[in-house]
Amino acid sequence: MKRGYYGDFGGQFVPELLMPPLLELEEAMGKILKSAEFQQEYTSLLKNFVGRPTALTHCQNLSRELGFNLWLKREDLAHTGAHKINNTVGQALLTKMMGKPKMLAETGAGQHGVATATAAALLDLECDIYMGATDVKRQSHNVRRMELFGAKCIPVHSGTQTLKDAINAALRQWIANQRTTHYCFGTAAGPHPFPLLVREFQSIIGREAKQQFKERTGEMPYMVVACVGGGSNAIGMFHEFVNEKSVKIVGVEAAGTGKPGCTNSAPINLGTPGVLHGMNTLLLQTDDGQILPSHSIAAGLDYPGVGPEHVHLHDTGRAEFGMVNDSQAINAFQMLCQKEGILPALESSHALAWAIENKDIIPKDANVIVNLSGRGDKDMDILDDYLAQHGK
Ligand SMILES: Cc1ncc(COP(=O)(O)O)c(C=O)c1O
Repeated sequence: MKRGYYGDFGGQFVPELLMPPLLELEEAMGKILKSAEFQQEYTSLLKNFVGRPTALTHCQNLSRELGFNLWLKREDLAHTGAHKINNTVGQALLTKMMGKPKMLAETGAGQHGVATATAAALLDLECDIYMGATDVKRQSHNVRRMELFGAKCIPVHSGTQTLKDAINAALRQWIANQRTTHYCFGTAAGPHPFPLLVREFQSIIGREAKQQFKERTGEMPYMVVACVGGGSNAIGMFHEFVNEKSVKIVGVEAAGTGKPGCTNSAPINLGTPGVLHGMNTLLLQTDDGQILPSHSIAAGLDYPGVGPEHVHLHDTGRAEFGMVNDSQAINAFQMLCQKEGILPALESSHALAWAIENKDIIPKDANVIVNLSGRGDKDMDILDDYLAQHGK
């Protein structure tokens, strides 16, 4: 496969001025990531700061009800409450070893912003977080958390004032400050080498899950399932299983309200090929290439594009990509709370909902691992608004 490509997708569709830091990053990855010094330090941080390995939980009550064995990979138990920290601790350490004093990052829901600010505080790096002005308002709690960790949160007022605009602003800032600053990208998307770099740091999820499952059952799971925003928790879970041909792989996109023609966040199912944020991928766009606004009740899935490796996994038939709507996700969210005492993030609830909605096509007693990418404390207000609006 061509360098930086996944089939026809991926690449580096960026202005010339962005090529030097991308090439520098690729070179640093080659030199630093494999070094014993980096690996030792990163492994120690994952264990002693992030709290890895995270648990693999067998959901006994729901398994009885659904007819298959439901297992959860508990990224909700990682420090800061989501998988994002696996990536930010890795990129912060890389920044430090590249000799740069500062990181910048984009954030949508605020989870990646919080995880970046956390890693920056730990490793004594300066940190600027770009966030759409709309998101700053909807996620003020996370803005406060970033500021407590010493990061500067910069509202972005262009476009729809959401994640895609925050990424544009962060890329522009990176061009201007490339000598001193590393761009800590938050998902397995964007120009090469980011999809590769983020996969490198998130693939700990699948490696642990495979080993833990083998220790508990002596087998391979029947299926692994994960929600897909940009695609980082999903590729983190899938990577280790791609060559295990017996294991089915399912990514889950957000269908929005689920009404015909509604705004959604499902570019693999409903998008067309195009270029955004430096990559060739599938996008929600008009016939003449204008990016359409996306929607999901889960703020972290609200992105009109998707990481290129997922498009390739879809095209080659290695993975299947389903869709779940807001109401199905809320139902799964409540079921997990009530039956298992676990409060999932709304993003992760999409993955869980897919397994629940498809229980009839999953063989009896099959083992299904759902990646529980984060915890749902951040989503309580959204849940209350949804229930009030729907008279529940
Ligand atoms: C808990 C959680 N899960 C999933 C996602 C989606 O991102 P990705 O597709 O990169 O895993 C987010 C994004 O903020 C998130 O916070």
